[in-house]
Amino acid sequence: MENDTENFTALRDYVERHKPHIENALREHLPFAPAKIETKFNGAVEYALFSGGKRLRPILTLLGAELFGARVETVLAAACAVEFIHTSSLIFDDLPSMDNASERRGQTSLHERFGEGLSILVAIGFLNSAYGLVFAGQENQPELAIAAHWEIVECVGAAGMLGGQSIDLAMAASTSEFPKQNSVGDYESIKNLKTSALMRLAVRLGAIQAGAPQEKLDALLRFANLLGDAYQLSDDLIDLREDAEIFGAAKTFANEQGEAAARARLENLINKAKLILTENFPASEARVCLMETADYLAERKA
Ligand code: IPE
Ligand code: IPE
Ligand code: MG
Ligand code: MG
Ligand code: MG
Repeated sequence: MENDTENFTALRDYVERHKPHIENALREHLPFAPAKIETKFNGAVEYALFSGGKRLRPILTLLGAELFGARVETVLAAACAVEFIHTSSLIFDDLPSMDNASERRGQTSLHERFGEGLSILVAIGFLNSAYGLVFAGQENQPELAIAAHWEIVECVGAAGMLGGQSIDLAMAASTSEFPKQNSVGDYESIKNLKTSALMRLAVRLGAIQAGAPQEKLDALLRFANLLGDAYQLSDDLIDLREDAEIFGAAKTFANEQGEAAARARLENLINKAKLILTENFPASEARVCLMETADYLAERKA
């Protein structure tokens, strides 16, 4: 993410300061099998996690906590949980039975390299570990850890990421249109459920562990949903550019409505997301970084 943030001074500075802590924490909490289990499991875990991910979502978790004055050290384990869930979602997403992707981040995808069976186990390993991580170091505030745990259940489950990925499967399988909802906005939000759900988790998990009040969590939910829609739209624009031959057939807004319409929609989503921040949170470094994250989506190339 550093290379893409030249114009985003506060965010770049924040990422530079905190990414090393995130990388260390990820290493510390790796869901490794014990040494006596001499399979390729641990190699696959490392391969999946250290392959150039931007770490955007754990950064969002730290920022969510900082909005409420918490110290980042107290939510590093939760930030790892978020990255683990994201990693597992990408492993599943690339499988032959899903997007059938042979590459991820410019490298051979996990299942191409380690086989499908082991990849499924590793993905479940990341997910499983995430559910436990929200309790790490939270002995003094068990009720907040329990709330964070339920946030994962909600965001990963059928009403979130899993439901969202099932929509993608249905769309890929159907030759006809996925049933259109009332408006383009609703329709797109439902199609982007997988990405929005993980954005919600990323932004709110830190806030929950920082003891944020419900009203502010509601505002963050609205912010994250818009950020998720914007993120998926910018991802689809990148896919459209990078590999029109492969993704030309994907039923994305960018593909169906064209690049100009997609850019206009992206601007609109970003502006709405930023307005939620200015209307609900006092000025702070964390707020500036979240605003810059929203802006970054319009320009990101990877
Ligand atoms: C990819 O996300 C999946 C989508 C939501 C489109 P990222 O681009 O943030 O993944 P990293 O940076 O490779 O982890
Ligand atoms: C994947 O979406 C998002 C999740 C797994 C939550 P995509 O299928 O669009 O992501 P990429 O393009 O493979 O990264
Ligand atoms: Mg997919
Ligand atoms: Mg995919
Ligand atoms: Mg994509």
